[in-house]
Amino acid sequence: MQNASTRVFGHRGAKGYLAENTLESIEKALNFNADGIEIDVHLCASGELVVFHDFTLDRMTNGTGEVGKQTLKALKELIVNGGFQIPTLEEVLNLIDKKCLLNIELKGKNTAIKTCEIVSYYVQNRGWDDTDFIVSSFQHTELETMFQTNKNIPLAVLTKASVTEAIEFAKTIQAKIIHPNFALLTKDNVKLAQSLGFEVNTWTVNNADTILRMKQYGVNGIISDVPDKI
Ligand code: G3P
Ligand code: CA
Repeated sequence: MQNASTRVFGHRGAKGYLAENTLESIEKALNFNADGIEIDVHLCASGELVVFHDFTLDRMTNGTGEVGKQTLKALKELIVNGGFQIPTLEEVLNLIDKKCLLNIELKGKNTAIKTCEIVSYYVQNRGWDDTDFIVSSFQHTELETMFQTNKNIPLAVLTKASVTEAIEFAKTIQAKIIHPNFALLTKDNVKLAQSLGFEVNTWTVNNADTILRMKQYGVNGIISDVPDKI
């Protein structure tokens, strides 16, 4: 059966329409009334968290080399394809301003502690709730640090390898959500994960047939470059 309450997350904002992980792309996803927005973060050399997918600047900007080796000042001087700027995590939070859920993917190393600090600040001072966030990662060490630092922030285990392994690791950090690539999913493993108390948000689902199939499997959420098509 199709699940009418499937949550829709804009992937890297609305990557299908505007340069990924930019404020403009995120605003586009907000305008589509996405239930949530997924972004990626890296720690830069001056200690801030910046919103960017790749470990290197080459594909998406006029710069080169590793994101993590550059200061925020240097990153802000770069042009993202299409004439945009790399945002900080705080700029994204200020733009979203609690209008939808925010899924922060810890992409780079050593991103967990700073993410905890920023999320805690926005929860204590800006009216956000812990449940307005999902922090996800492929990197188990980052998720373990999140769990050790703040047990209130919902965690999600990303996988492109195994639903079973994601569930086993999720149990160790009390994560209640798994984020498998859609190619790993069957109706049965979605049902099994949910029967064990996990929500299942899948990525990156853009094709109409796959969107329909994921809804028929009863996933809790779909992360898509084209959130208006879900
Ligand atoms: O969070 C889901 C998805 O974004 C993970 O893969 O490479 O697009 O960050 P990637
Ligand atoms: Ca991501």
